[in-house]
Amino acid sequence: MQPLVDAYQREITYMRVSITDRCNLRCVYCMPEEGLEWTPSDEILSYDELLRIITVAARRGLRKIRITGGEPLVRKGVVEFIDRVHRVPGIEEIALTTNAVFLKDMAADLFKAGLRGINISIDSLNPDTFAKIVRRDIFHKVWEGIEEAERVGFTPLKLNVVLQQGVNDHEAIDFVNLTRTKPYHVRFIEYMPCANWDTWVKTYKPFQAVVDEVETMTGKMIPINGANEGNTGPAENFRIPGAPGIVGFIHAVSHDFCDTCNRVRLTADGQVRPCLFSEIAVDFRNALRNGCSDEEIEGLLDQVLYVKPEYHELDMIPEEKKLTTMVNLGG
Ligand code: GTP
Ligand code: 5AD
Ligand code: SF4
Repeated sequence: MQPLVDAYQREITYMRVSITDRCNLRCVYCMPEEGLEWTPSDEILSYDELLRIITVAARRGLRKIRITGGEPLVRKGVVEFIDRVHRVPGIEEIALTTNAVFLKDMAADLFKAGLRGINISIDSLNPDTFAKIVRRDIFHKVWEGIEEAERVGFTPLKLNVVLQQGVNDHEAIDFVNLTRTKPYHVRFIEYMPCANWDTWVKTYKPFQAVVDEVETMTGKMIPINGANEGNTGPAENFRIPGAPGIVGFIHAVSHDFCDTCNRVRLTADGQVRPCLFSEIAVDFRNALRNGCSDEEIEGLLDQVLYVKPEYHELDMIPEEKKLTTMVNLGG
């Protein structure tokens, strides 16, 4: 087996698979209020097509799959799909990123299908603020979804909080305090510029200010090092002394984790994107629909490795072109 190693000696073991670009929410930083023009369903890869790519990549050392969207739980058949991914030889870990609106009803079935990791987007603990951010009055449903996922046995449950200055940054301390009583892994995510340059400039808040504000109230947080405490992703993790939960910071913008990047992204319409911040993409759909062989799929994967950029080069992208679409990339 020849592992998936790119031109900068990074081994790709993790694929984020977006199964739909549709979503039932309208988060202000992700989409306009009226939604977007969704990709027609015949342009979206079928579950069989997705599984074919995953199966070939797993033969080359892919070990982790994260299912994303849009909102992945809106696509019919997602539980059965997860069950099938779980059985692909070589795949050791399968996780999901969701807005949790449908989680209350689906958590038990997802667990049975072999899912273990769930990351939930929840930017506020205040129902009114939450409604302003996601443009839906739906906080209680999301919270019930989180509680049900905990009850069913998902651990750790990661809560993703995109912090925006003047919108929800004052709640950082409430989220930190949640980790004192709940075993949740709260992760603050730096707001990334998408098709929202004007608001981004106004509300982007670098993390050092957040850490300082939090620590004036809690005292020094204890840094957590080591993969055994879940320190494998882009988050820098801390714990409040004695707390069951973890506090993490994902420096999505100001980060320097490109040199250890282990991931690529498969979009719902069948392109593999080697970097979140780059428009470079390799199309797999056309080959799949023209009856390609497994060797040809491997050849396309090799192309992805070849074009994966060394760094995100965010500073060099013109403003109007920064991350124009997040929703079909699943973050
Ligand atoms: P695990 O480490 O598997 O728990 O997943 P994750 O934190 O990568 O996944 P999640 O879907 O919860 O993403 C959390 C945030 O991290 C999102 O805002 C992503 O866009 C961001 N993120 C994930 N991967 C990358 C990356 O390669 N680069 C950057 N800049 N941000 C990333
Ligand atoms: N900046 C930071 N995070 C974002 N997400 C979506 N858009 C942005 C953005 N502009 C987050 C969602 C979700 C994760 C997959 O990506 O909140 O938790
Ligand atoms: Fe939906 Fe996620 Fe975009 Fe919010 S950030 S609108 S939950 S895809």
